[in-house]
Amino acid sequence: MAEDPSFLPKDGFVLKLPKKSSLVLRMVVLLFVMVCAVYICSICLKQIGVSPNYGFLNVEVFERPCPEPNIEPWDIPFVHYPKPKTYNRDECSCHPVRYFAILSMQRSGSGWFETLLNNHTNISSNGEIFSVKDRRANVSTIFETLDKVYNLDWLSSASKNECTSAVGFKWMLNQGLMKHHEEIVEYFKTRGVSAIFLFRKNLLRRMISVLANSYDRDAKLLNGTHKSHTHSAKEAEILAGYKPMINTTLLINELRQIQEMTLKALAYFNTTRHILVYYEDVVKNLTRLDDVQEFLKVPKRKLKSRQVKIHGGSLSKHVQNWEEVMTTLKGTNFENFLHQEF
Ligand SMILES: *[C@@H]1O[C@H](CO)[C@@H](O)[C@H](O)[C@H]1NC(C)=O
Ligand SMILES: *[C@@H]1O[C@H](CO)[C@@H](O)[C@H](O)[C@H]1NC(C)=O
Ligand SMILES: *[C@@H]1O[C@H](CO)[C@@H](O)[C@H](O)[C@H]1NC(C)=O
Ligand SMILES: *[C@@H]1O[C@H](CO)[C@@H](O)[C@H](O)[C@H]1NC(C)=O
Ligand SMILES: *[C@@H]1O[C@H](CO)[C@@H](O)[C@H](O)[C@H]1NC(C)=O
Ligand SMILES: *[C@@H]1O[C@H](CO)[C@@H](O)[C@H](O)[C@H]1NC(C)=O
Ligand SMILES: *[C@@H]1O[C@H](CO)[C@@H](O)[C@H](O)[C@H]1NC(C)=O
Repeated sequence: MAEDPSFLPKDGFVLKLPKKSSLVLRMVVLLFVMVCAVYICSICLKQIGVSPNYGFLNVEVFERPCPEPNIEPWDIPFVHYPKPKTYNRDECSCHPVRYFAILSMQRSGSGWFETLLNNHTNISSNGEIFSVKDRRANVSTIFETLDKVYNLDWLSSASKNECTSAVGFKWMLNQGLMKHHEEIVEYFKTRGVSAIFLFRKNLLRRMISVLANSYDRDAKLLNGTHKSHTHSAKEAEILAGYKPMINTTLLINELRQIQEMTLKALAYFNTTRHILVYYEDVVKNLTRLDDVQEFLKVPKRKLKSRQVKIHGGSLSKHVQNWEEVMTTLKGTNFENFLHQEF
């Protein structure tokens, strides 16, 4: 009963609205016309003030070919001048750009390594773009994705300004890279892409990181969120609180498989321009990054990352069945993994 009266006035208001709204509409149109008039006038005034050749000159500058870079002949195929579809490189359109791909495996420090590279003003490393299955569905989708990245049209949080001089991403071996290696090597060679291998020496530590990370995917130790990387020492401590149990029956075989896979990758990409970097060497001495910067021909900078290592110190405190792991690896090729620090 009380609903009707309260409804009627509203209805009445709605019925009146057309008259009011047509008035409002007229006002809006008038205002719009006025704004347009002012805008057109301001443009006219500007053009009178500025040389009428301005537009023409601009086009001429844009179309002039870039001067030959002063580099060694062998280096020429690795230098590019991409013209992004989505924006203009402006004053940097003649800055040469080099293409790279970080070839690595999960839990080998590539996330950390990438934040270091991205700390450089002239490097854009666009993350693990082939973690999305559709992009690695077949060779055509892979090439399409690569073309977009190397044309500087891949927009991610790592995209830098127009003056990027090295562009790439990280690519895990199991993300179509090994499967389509022949075509990808061909692409790298014809397009002048350089490969940065980033591997871990201590495959036992890597295995522990894999187990802990996959546990956390479900357990979500950090207040219900899963983090593969962290910037906080406290979070790192919480994440390292989980001690995985290692299946010692499978251990040696699994370590061997990983080792064989990295050797295979090195052999496949041996004929491309490449550099091999070990995570442990970078951890020990950040000047190893100077070699990477030299490889990418970017000006040398001190690079910093805010990421914090999760499993630091002795391995014995990170594994539940440490004694068993020790006895399994003693006397094998993998024995040194037990004692290495990183
Ligand atoms: C590099 O890291 C330093 C320190 O964290 C930061 O101040 C700087 O803005 C970073 N530079 C880039 C390009 O990300
Ligand atoms: C690196 O980036 C800076 C800032 O955008 C730019 O001034 C400089 O020319 C770039 N250097 C190279 C080698 O492209
Ligand atoms: C490649 O995969 C895409 C997406 O799944 C599909 O549309 C396309 O037809 C495939 N191309 C070839 C050559 O198989
Ligand atoms: C979890 O949440 C509590 C309460 O909000 C907070 O005090 C604590 O720092 C959080 N821990 C982490 C690891 O984010
Ligand atoms: C180790 O893996 C093997 C093969 O998957 C399995 O049969 C065995 O039960 C596992 N051992 C432990 C302790 O989980
Ligand atoms: C790569 O090729 C060079 C020479 O062609 C050879 O000496 C080297 O052993 C090869 N490396 C691998 C990992 O196959
Ligand atoms: C890191 O390596 C550089 C060059 O190889 C060397 O000069 C420097 O002393 C090393 N620093 C440390 C802390 O080992």
